[in-house]
Amino acid sequence: MTIAPPALSVFETLESEVRSYCRSWPAVFDRAQGSRLYDEDGHAYLDFFAGAGALNYGHNNPVLKRALIDYIERDGITHGLDMGTTAKRAFLETFQNVVLRPRDLPYKVMFPGPTGTNAVEAALKLARKVKGRESIVSFTNAFHGMSLGSLAVTGNAFKRAGAGVPLVHGTPMPFDNYLDGQTPDFIWFERLLDDQGSGLNKPAAVIVETVQGEGGINVARPEWLRALAELCKRQDMLLIVDDIQMGCGRTGAFFSFEEAGITPDIVTLSKSIGGYGLPMSLCLFRPELDVWEPGEHNGTFRGNNPAFVTAAAALEAYWADGQMEKQTLARGEQVEAALRAICLEHDQLGASYRGRGLVWGMEFEDPGQATKVCRRAFEHGLLLETSGPRSEVVKLLPALTTTPEELDEGLRILARSVRETA
Ligand SMILES: Cc1ncc(COP(=O)(O)O)c(C=O)c1O
Repeated sequence: MTIAPPALSVFETLESEVRSYCRSWPAVFDRAQGSRLYDEDGHAYLDFFAGAGALNYGHNNPVLKRALIDYIERDGITHGLDMGTTAKRAFLETFQNVVLRPRDLPYKVMFPGPTGTNAVEAALKLARKVKGRESIVSFTNAFHGMSLGSLAVTGNAFKRAGAGVPLVHGTPMPFDNYLDGQTPDFIWFERLLDDQGSGLNKPAAVIVETVQGEGGINVARPEWLRALAELCKRQDMLLIVDDIQMGCGRTGAFFSFEEAGITPDIVTLSKSIGGYGLPMSLCLFRPELDVWEPGEHNGTFRGNNPAFVTAAAALEAYWADGQMEKQTLARGEQVEAALRAICLEHDQLGASYRGRGLVWGMEFEDPGQATKVCRRAFEHGLLLETSGPRSEVVKLLPALTTTPEELDEGLRILARSVRETA
């Protein structure tokens, strides 16, 4: 497939230079179904990015679409501030019955605003309020969002520089394997906590991703996560798991921390919780942490009722039985086998792969190679993005509903793109 870039368009003349994904994929998209998008000229693209993890159930999923159309057609509430609505009640009941209760998770649910960074801001604010301390520990290569509080616990130097003000009260620690296993886990962190001369203010909380999505698909080992949870308990710090990208089944289980058998104090969820790609986010916390005063953390768009409808429909359709997790793990094995074969075929590129469930990354010795591969994949009709501090990792994030045949098709395009750019 050869795709001509669109003529100088209103995107280039009017839209800000800050736009980004449209630069990687120079097409004008018009419609989408499942794992495929179509541009206005009718070219089809297989989507291995899934709205950066916001479309775990695919584009315009028919089950969710039906629920949404029915709701809109009967003039269900669209905008609801944080009023009580039937849609919100149905979502909360479904979330409790399908997600929280079967996992024995005691959380209360807060609607902090529509995007992921809203949930992170709420989590940080709550942790500080509960503990009466301002310092938060994050990890190298973490990504938690673009608003100032979230940016202060984000690693990427380019993104941090955009803040324009000092980013304070965040301290980075080495993520799992950051030091290539040369030192015992958390030896530096705990030493700083125990040493009155270390200069580290006692943190209110630690915020962590179980798999760093934007940071390069860095997978924390379950034992590392368990040791972190124990450290937090020992040192009286709250543990926040940011499950915005890796939650909602991306790694297999509904929450990515389930595999490690830990129960974080606070969890942030967004992206695919709305099910249909509609903005929605949640901050979950242990009931004893619910020290908010009414209205103390507020916002106009905390009640996206159409998202409550599609969120509840997604939970009913995909999580009421245990099938989704098994399916994701099986499809993940399919991806892993293909990546292993590509790495073996191109030994000279020094390629390696890593991942869990349906999130995978492929890294090359030459950091520029990942961008070349993604560009070539686009020319062959596959949407892929890079991740990592130097965009050195090809990131695979297909919808969880992608069929084995579609996965195979995309993986063959990936193999071809690596071969052609080697
Ligand atoms: C782990 C994590 N936290 C927070 C965010 C921020 O979410 P949003 O872009 O919706 O503000 C992201 C976005 O990629 C993320 O991956």
